[in-house]
Amino acid sequence: MSFAVEDLSLPIVLAPMAGGPSTPALAAAVSNAGALGFLAAGYKSADALRDDIESVRAGSQEPFGVNLFARPHRRGDAEQVRRYAQSLQGEAERYGTQLGEPRYDDDAYDAKLALLRENPVAVASFTFGCPSAEEVHGLHAAGTSVWVTVTSVEEASLAQRAGADALVAQGMEVGGHRACFDDRAPAENLGLLALLRQLAHDCGLALIATGGIMDGAAIAASLCAGAAAAQLGSALMLAPEAGTSAPQRTALARPAPTRLTRAFSGRLARGIENRFMREHDAAAPHAYPEVHHLTTPVRAAARAAGDAQGFNLWAGQGHALARSAPAAQIVKQLAAEAREALTARRAFIDRDL
Ligand SMILES: Cc1cc2nc3c(=O)[nH]c(=O)nc-3n(C[C@H](O)[C@H](O)[C@H](O)COP(=O)(O)O)c2cc1C
Repeated sequence: MSFAVEDLSLPIVLAPMAGGPSTPALAAAVSNAGALGFLAAGYKSADALRDDIESVRAGSQEPFGVNLFARPHRRGDAEQVRRYAQSLQGEAERYGTQLGEPRYDDDAYDAKLALLRENPVAVASFTFGCPSAEEVHGLHAAGTSVWVTVTSVEEASLAQRAGADALVAQGMEVGGHRACFDDRAPAENLGLLALLRQLAHDCGLALIATGGIMDGAAIAASLCAGAAAAQLGSALMLAPEAGTSAPQRTALARPAPTRLTRAFSGRLARGIENRFMREHDAAAPHAYPEVHHLTTPVRAAARAAGDAQGFNLWAGQGHALARSAPAAQIVKQLAAEAREALTARRAFIDRDL
């Protein structure tokens, strides 16, 4: 029988976090703690994903999920990308490297889907778009539940029509990339509560809330607002099992404003404001994954030099509340806080209004 989010011992999901923070050790630790661990397949080859899946299985017998980037829809404007590349030359020189080739690719989508059909996991979740009904059917046939990340009621109805089992409701507070199906469409940036309530009203699918949830009280709030579970990213980035880089750990732990930018990848994503973002945001075109590939060597060099001003510090709006502790301990604390928050509000039920 396929996995249902209501089967979890704890209504907590580890957010998939491509580009470093997601590791098999983190996924296994979270699943072993009674929540749902996740791997991020983004930017990885199908072979690397297969190895990661095996590593999680070596560390845990519990269910876990794998997240895929849906196929990018449209190519960016080549001339705009060329001009943006010119404006980034100084960054390459500053960090003693070259810009990357701004190529278009689909992140090996078909190969990863084929791997998941042959080697099924409990949940496959998607971001940046919706799998086709045939793709959803193929995963269902393999016994895998399909979750689609959505940012609006319109995206939710497309996902429902494709056969999704659950929706990850992504509020604009979220760390990392916005999940919007079409990054260019001028969609409203809904906050998590506004989105959750509309989805709870309009669609019958299980909802997983994500964006800015940092503690048990916020998990309790999202459950009260109609979610079956809460998906947390920034809250687990300081766990020792996470692959978060050292300069990003330092930046995350301090209060600092975040904002949405296309400067690093060509797609809107939220990170802690830094020099690179301030200097390049205005010139950055809508061109994902071309800009992602263009800036990859510069970001890697800045990260290796420990310069937090020169690479993407993805983080949600609540990042300063992240705690530094083993993942199992964080999950346990989150569950205890959620119970406490729900119990503390029980007095309201007895009140004579
Ligand atoms: C570093 C980082 C990488 C992320 N990568 C992915 C990803 O590969 N796929 C995805 O669906 N979401 C990704 N996200 C979004 C998270 O899954 C999650 O929705 C988000 O972290 C929730 O917001 P929070 O950080 O405030 O908890 C990423 C977030 C961060 C912070």
